[in-house]
Order: sequence, then structure tokens, then C-alpha cells
Amino acid sequence: MAAGELVWGAGAAHEAKAGAEWWRSGVIYQIYPRSFADANGDGMGDLPGITSRLDSLRELGIDAIWLSPFYRSPQKDAGYDVADYCDVDPLFGTLADFDSMLARAHELGLRVLIDLVPNHSSDKHAWFQAALNSPAGSPEREFYHFKDGRGENGELPPNNWLSLFGGPAWTRTVHPDGTPGQWYLHLFDSSQPDLNWANPSVQSAFEDILRFWLDRGVDGFRVDQPHAMAKAAGLPDHPDIERAGAGFIEGEASPPMWFQEEVHPIFRRWRAILDSYPGDRAMCGEAYVLPLSFMALWVRSDEFQQTFNFRFLNSEWDAKTLFDNINESFEAFDSVGAPSTWVLNNHDVLRHASRFGGLKIKPTDSDGVGPNDPQPDRELGLRRARGATLFMLGLAGSAYIYQGEELGLPEHTTLAPEFRQDPTFFRTGGKRVGRDGCRVPLPWEAGIGAANGFNATGAAWLPQPDIYTEYSRDHQVGVEGSTLELYKQALRLRKEYKLGEGSFNWLNEYVGPSILGYQNGKILVIHNFGHQPVELPAGEVVASSLHGMKTGHPLAADQTVWLKVECETKG
Ligand code: NOJ
Repeated sequence: MAAGELVWGAGAAHEAKAGAEWWRSGVIYQIYPRSFADANGDGMGDLPGITSRLDSLRELGIDAIWLSPFYRSPQKDAGYDVADYCDVDPLFGTLADFDSMLARAHELGLRVLIDLVPNHSSDKHAWFQAALNSPAGSPEREFYHFKDGRGENGELPPNNWLSLFGGPAWTRTVHPDGTPGQWYLHLFDSSQPDLNWANPSVQSAFEDILRFWLDRGVDGFRVDQPHAMAKAAGLPDHPDIERAGAGFIEGEASPPMWFQEEVHPIFRRWRAILDSYPGDRAMCGEAYVLPLSFMALWVRSDEFQQTFNFRFLNSEWDAKTLFDNINESFEAFDSVGAPSTWVLNNHDVLRHASRFGGLKIKPTDSDGVGPNDPQPDRELGLRRARGATLFMLGLAGSAYIYQGEELGLPEHTTLAPEFRQDPTFFRTGGKRVGRDGCRVPLPWEAGIGAANGFNATGAAWLPQPDIYTEYSRDHQVGVEGSTLELYKQALRLRKEYKLGEGSFNWLNEYVGPSILGYQNGKILVIHNFGHQPVELPAGEVVASSLHGMKTGHPLAADQTVWLKVECETKG
């Protein structure tokens, strides 16, 4: 490539936005309560466990935490099956424990977002139980999607929709006398009936739930599956279920269970509620809507503040894909004045330290990797994951970190079938092993019990693989070059150089199939996708994904570097 040649065109640029709200640039750390820290030693993480470890998150340098569900729940989908939206499940503690956790987080300057699960409840929720015990057509049944079946005796599901966890999206009810009744809709597990968002009573019930938590002091919500909440009137068949399965085909007509326009007025009302509270309360929608120009409609100034950037999350780690996806991100989100989010991991996807270890897998497939599948190359995976994280944390916008990635944790890819808990595993007869491998309890102190300090007893709802001992936090604190110290350093510099609220320009001489570089303020961020070392432009090395990099050194394969330059503008 000749110097200065634009191999793929000019790409996007993004201007710095000064003095803006925290969620435009904040780094949000996802806590998966089942696996973060377990104070009572029963093998399941809990709220007091979280409180006891918040100092370590403060030290990490994040701005906010997002907690996956801790509500009352039969735990059929790890808490995403909520039986009471306004109470804490005894597994995780009490409302008083929640209040203490929140108070401690605020004391440490950390904001707290909680997970709101509005598309479906648990089948054990009082609303669903009341619906089951009420006749067809009753107001109780109107809370959900109950329908008569098709076929002569209603023996066929009302439409052709499929569950995202496998199998049909309908389950038939049974009357107390054993005769079959109506069917109810569940886009996920049969224990997660979909709520009927066309019903104003459902809408107002959730507005009360929002207020309940906002009154308690939460700083906002991560909203689960918002793109599924409204369904096309009459619940028509999906026109192309064979090809689309439970999902959708990007760029083709909107399927009847996803992205319906009716959700937008609901989010506008939620936004007005959030805005009526003091402080900068915010919502991030888990809106799986692509392309990003479409997702941008969900973050217009009176709807969500953020959505997860699934395009970025789904990127294969190669230069052209990232070039395109980053361009698409800035173009789409800038068009509505919203921040882009950047995310590499969450509790539904294969950890990036394994994904990038030579596996051909799309993170959001949620199929998982089991003992009988090809195994990742651990060293390569971690090297690339560190490079990917440093590349991501230099980007302007808001970034998400999933618990354990700061330790470089790999996926548990050899978890035995008897430990599996993800409904995906059961609904597909084990064909898709599911997401348990990224949900394993964290190792805090090597050798403290079988779960390395996750608790004092060693009990763990999912066993750690033996290799987790090496990744324990106490082996990494203060250790130069450890993954934990790399994350801390990157987060500190991100603040120091105001990268979150910063600008973005490609470094045209460092854009091509084997190299990708951009400038944000005084920092140049460059990653080497090739196999050969690359000479770098002038600048002081302030961070590197590989330990021991000095100013003037070339950039090795899979390495990311941050170089400090004097000139803030594009060179
Ligand atoms: C998305 C959540 O992230 C996932 O864990 C859950 O299974 C589904 N929504 C259903 O709630």
C-alpha cells in the first residue's frame, strides 16, 4: 500500500462533544450476580457479595455497573424469567441488601443500572398465574398472548413462530380437568410467556416498576429484548420462517415479532419518566436491530440514551470488517446525536479471549462451545483479546466490559453436560450447548476453596475449569503486564485523555488489510492484524496490549498500541 492511499475510501469521522452527559462516554461494567461474588457461600453469587467487592471495581476505573437480574425468579433462564419485578430473589439477598449495595456504589462514585425484562415474565408471575386461572378472553389473559390453536381441535399452534431457544414459540395450556386449552406465546423458554404490550394495563404496570426502582435511587436500566415487545396485530405467520428461524434476515421485511413501530411511544414515555427524576438517569436498550441506521431510530433524543452495538460485538477480528463496522457506527449514531457503544462481551456470548483463539463462531449465535467441539488456542485468544480491548477502549463513545474479561478469562469450553443450565441446551437436546461457558463464577483469590475466592466454601453453581486459578485476580493485581493492569491502565488513560468524549479520524496511512489505526485527540490507536512487525509513526508509547513495548519499537502481530502525539488534529 502506498503511503496515504485510501484503500477503502475515507471512512467516517466523529467530532468531540464536550461537557456532555456521563452516558455518552462512560464505561459500564456488567455484573452477572450469579457469578460475581458469593457472600453466604451457597455457591450462588449474591448482592452482599457484590457490595463486598465494589472497591475492586472502583480501582478498575469504571463509571457504572449494570446488574443482570436479581429479581424473584424460578431461575429457568438465570433470572431473565421474572416472577416479581419489585423484589429481590432470596438467592441474591433482600431489598435491604440491594439498598446497601446501591448506597456503597454511590459512595464510591459508581452509577448503578439494573436489568429490566419487559418482553416476558416468568410463568410463575402472579399475572400469568391469574391468566391461567381465568377464562379465555378475560382481562387477565389479555396481559399475555393467549390464542386458540389452529386445526380441527385447536391442536396446532396459532402461528408458525419459533422460540429463540429452539422449538415452537407456543405452548398449549391444560385445564384442571386435563383437557387442552388455549396456547400462549413465548419467544424464549415456555417458562417465559410474552407480555401483551398492546394492553395499556401492561404499559402502566411497567411504568410503576420503573418508578419503584428510580425512587430507590437506581441510575437507570438496561432493557432486555425491547425489539420484541410489540407484535404485529393479529400475530400473523412469519412469511419466511424456514430461512429466518426465530430471528430475522437483515435488510428484509420486518418480521411480525420484531421491531414493530408501536414500541417507540412506549420508550418515549419511559424516557419522560427518567427525565422527571434528578440526576442523569439513562437506559440502554438491548435492541438487536440492524443495520445500525435502523438501530439509530431507537436512540433518538427522546428514546433510549444508548443501545448495544451488536454490529461491533459481532465483528470478526479483521481489519476490513472493523473498518466498515466502526464507520457504520459513527455514521448511524452521529446522525441522531447519540453515542455509539462499544462492546466485546456479555453473558450471552462466547468470551472474546476464546472467540479470537481461532474459532469460527459469531458471538451472538449463543450456540456455545462444548467439550466435543474444536477448542480455542488460549494463548492466541488472549493476545488478540487484549489487542481488541485496547483498540476498543480508545474509541469515543461509551464502552461495556463484562465481568471477568479484565482478568483475561477464557470461556469454560469443556463444561460437562450434567452442569449445563441454559435452556438452549435443553430445548435443542444438547445440540446447542448454550451460554453457560461465559457465566462461570469469577476467580478472586487463587486457592481459596475450589472456586478461587468466589466464596469461602468452594461451592459454585457452575464449576470453574482448573485453568481459572491462573487467572485469579490476586495473581494479577499490581503485576506489570497482567491483563487486569492493562485494563486499569487503559481506563485511567481513557479518562486522562478524555477519549470517551473525544473525536475519531482514521489514520489513512495505517488503514489496510493488515493494519488499522485511528486518532482520538492526542492518542493514536493502531492494531496490527498481519503477521509482520510494522514500523510506527512518531509518538510516545503510553499503552500496549503486549507487555514491554517501548517507544520506537515496531508493532508486533495482534498487538495494539496507544501513541501520544502532540498534534491533536489528524496528521
Ligand atoms: C437477552 C438476555 O441477555 C438473555 O440472557 C436472555 O436469555 C434473553 N434476553 C431472554 O430474556
